[in-house]
Amino acid sequence: MRRTHQCGQLSTDSAGARVILQGWVNRRRDLGGLVFVDLRDRSGLVQVVIEPDSATFGDMEVVRSEFIIEVQGIVRLRPKEQRRVRLSESEGLDTGVIEVVAEKLTVLAEAQTPPFLIDGTVDASEVDEELRLRHRYLDLRRPEAAHPLLLRHRITKAIWDYLDSEGFVQVETPLLTLSTPEGARDYLVPSRTEPGSFYALPQSPQLFKQLLMMAGFDRYFQLARCFRDEDLRADRQPDFTQLDIEMSFVEQEDILALSEGLMHHLIREVLGRELALPFQQISYREAMDRFGSDKPDLRNPFELSDLSAAFSNTEFRAFRGALEAGGVVRALALTGTRLSRRELTQLEEVAKRRGAKGLAWVQFDGSAPKGPIAKFLGEAEVGALQALVPEGGTVLLVADSWTTACTALGAIRTEIPAVIGVELDDCALSFCWVVDFPLLEVEADGTFSYMHHPFTRARDEDLPLLETDPARVRAWAYDLVLNGNEIGGGSLRIHRHDVQSRMFELLGFTQEEAERRFGFFLRALDYGAPPHGGIAWGLDRLIMILAGASSLRDVIAFPKNQRGIDPLTGAPAPVEQEQLKELGLELRPTVGEGT
Ligand code: AMO
Ligand code: AMP
Repeated sequence: MRRTHQCGQLSTDSAGARVILQGWVNRRRDLGGLVFVDLRDRSGLVQVVIEPDSATFGDMEVVRSEFIIEVQGIVRLRPKEQRRVRLSESEGLDTGVIEVVAEKLTVLAEAQTPPFLIDGTVDASEVDEELRLRHRYLDLRRPEAAHPLLLRHRITKAIWDYLDSEGFVQVETPLLTLSTPEGARDYLVPSRTEPGSFYALPQSPQLFKQLLMMAGFDRYFQLARCFRDEDLRADRQPDFTQLDIEMSFVEQEDILALSEGLMHHLIREVLGRELALPFQQISYREAMDRFGSDKPDLRNPFELSDLSAAFSNTEFRAFRGALEAGGVVRALALTGTRLSRRELTQLEEVAKRRGAKGLAWVQFDGSAPKGPIAKFLGEAEVGALQALVPEGGTVLLVADSWTTACTALGAIRTEIPAVIGVELDDCALSFCWVVDFPLLEVEADGTFSYMHHPFTRARDEDLPLLETDPARVRAWAYDLVLNGNEIGGGSLRIHRHDVQSRMFELLGFTQEEAERRFGFFLRALDYGAPPHGGIAWGLDRLIMILAGASSLRDVIAFPKNQRGIDPLTGAPAPVEQEQLKELGLELRPTVGEGT
């Protein structure tokens, strides 16, 4: 027998129809001789009634939650007093108004009692996540858990449709490959046929997509699996998906416009909402200056300001020291807000974790400043501080290098809404571009490392600075930010061998090392590489935000936990001695003992 309908498809129009349904018993209720079963499949729930005089009533005896059953019966409108409006998206539109009177019931599969309730009566957050991940196939039976994956399907469908219509070609690139530097550690795969040699899983398809431009593909995309061995957080998974895009013969604006068009299309298709285009563009410098972050959440109303000039003659030693060392005094003004000692201590910890030496604060209730540094303040300083909070409130101050002062106050800015109980609009989609990133980052020891990756092109007008003041060179690089999350990043690329070699040199690669790791790529540049550039979106992060989820784990079918372990399969796991031997590997006896 085949099913005639899915549970959620039944509607008032189906009244009187004879149907066959197959699905899971969400819940069974016995009421005065009648038995009610909420039958569930992917499309939703429908109520099945088994009346005491039905020939199949006896078959109900064995049926429990999560059994899979087949029901043959007749759809009827529920008695008036039992009609319900739809309670959730997972129910069919009309299924609260109808029910199916069972004529025949067959058990297709029995089920043990699940280790946690999945019938919607208990909130998932009350169930241990590890337990849910270990039984993820049960967890995903909950409509709320399945929803992000269904949304994900619609998002990827919208991406395919839009990019196809814009002339993009989807190409798959290898998973067993060589290292692609994106700033994380590689996952390595030992080769059996070449003992002692290893593949690396790609941190991104960066080099391959550039090679595809050299191969003339012009416009490429891929929903690309990427692998990065780095410290995990709620917005990071060791294997994750990028929407990876590359285009030839383009300028930065073309790539931003394409991304905006795509985002507009998918938000309209998936959420039915219209985005305002173009997205605001903020330079890296301005983002750090105003928001203390290169992924500013523009829903947050607070901004940083600079008080270095006002404090140029300060008597407070810590501030004077910072200014004399070429640093700055920066402030975060909280108009109308008085913070408690406990809150201030908590925020000082946030600042210190970001490298600040402390967090100074001044509160104004009337005109007299209060706080630990109040006694050091001259008239001009009080005036400048008061101007930031004309109606009273708190000013938080950090004196340090520009980067540390901005970053520390930026971290505090992110915490402030939660601390003072202001909610940021959950429904807002606040997009912006951060542009004009520096090409290079100066490390503590004075050496340079790349800000995005070593293939990023410098702005032409800044090229001379490469030889004189590399830290000031700006890149053709951009990040896409949504509600304070970096959901994408990209750049224009170097497309000349000599420039690429010079970049490797600046980054401290010896010529031999550059040749060994990237020789194949440098050679490809010699055969005619078009000017090109691209972007990669963090697809999981985007879906997480659009699904209103708080963790990437909620939008990935079979995710890893915070320790990088998959509780369902138990991966990673030890392997047989025989396998190691075949691979020419031998484990050091200390492995696993932390040495
Ligand atoms: P980038 O390293 O910025 O760029 O990565 C692009 C986007 O991928 C997402 N992302 C992650 N998502 C989940 N878990 C992770 N561990 C993780 N790491 C990164 C972020 C990020 O913005 N090849 C370049 C792109 C290019 O230049 O075209 C790249 O990989 O949302
Ligand atoms: P101290 O004089 O060291 O006791 O510090 C007085 C206050 O200034 C404390 O609240 C410190 O956290 C703060 N403070 C010290 N150094 C700095 C700094 N560089 N920037 C901001 N606040 C600081």
